[in-house]
Amino acid sequence: MSRQPIVAGNIKMFLTIEACLELFRQVWAGLNGKERAQVLYFPPFTCLPDGARLLAGSPLGIGGQNMYWAAEGAFTGEISPRMLRDAGASHVLIGHSERRTLFGETDETVRRKVEAALAHALFPIVCIGETLEERESGRTEAVLSRQIRQGFKELDAAPVRSLALAYEPVWAIGTGRNATPEQAQEAHRFIRGELALLFGAEAAALRILYGGSVKPENAADLLSQPDVDGALVGGACLKPDSFLSIIRAAGVGD
Ligand code: PGA
Repeated sequence: MSRQPIVAGNIKMFLTIEACLELFRQVWAGLNGKERAQVLYFPPFTCLPDGARLLAGSPLGIGGQNMYWAAEGAFTGEISPRMLRDAGASHVLIGHSERRTLFGETDETVRRKVEAALAHALFPIVCIGETLEERESGRTEAVLSRQIRQGFKELDAAPVRSLALAYEPVWAIGTGRNATPEQAQEAHRFIRGELALLFGAEAAALRILYGGSVKPENAADLLSQPDVDGALVGGACLKPDSFLSIIRAAGVGD
């Protein structure tokens, strides 16, 4: 099954509006239209309206790094799916490990957010992954299985073409220590098997991105693994040249 890879840049809380726009301009200018990957950027909320305007008509998509599940309400400091759409976002990251570990998100909040994103026609990229302690104590598969089952519980239909996953081992995020291609493939194959139990044969179409210290030097090896369908890139997405070489590592299209 041939799945179009996704290469997504997570800007986190790093760039101001003008710096984001300059980054987008340079990445756009560096694309030649032959790239196989779908390219997405997840800037801070402040950059979404200007970013979406700039990128309209470009091959780059744009999304939010997080959202709350209610459409509106007295939730000071939160942003709703409707507001993300209004700001021009088509995609949203859900359950990033920084949200889980620093801001108390759980499998249950992830589930509610996934449902809300789908209900508002936002394409969620749902992040899962084990900590170092969980890996070293042999619990990687149990953790991934729980995150998948709880996070996708009670979804009405099999929305496999409307969402993607990102496997991001927590010990690899921002540490410079990426999973080896073999470790990534092993986890991705396991994840696809779990998804097949939930979604049946359709799981073969679901994109599973790898994230955690992806950089130009390791992107090709990671992306050549059969179940690795793209990359979620933090640090290396802040520099146009390094992000472009990761996009190129995902290959050229037909
Ligand atoms: P990193 O971040 O590429 O800087 O490790 C990845 C992520 O947090 O999505």
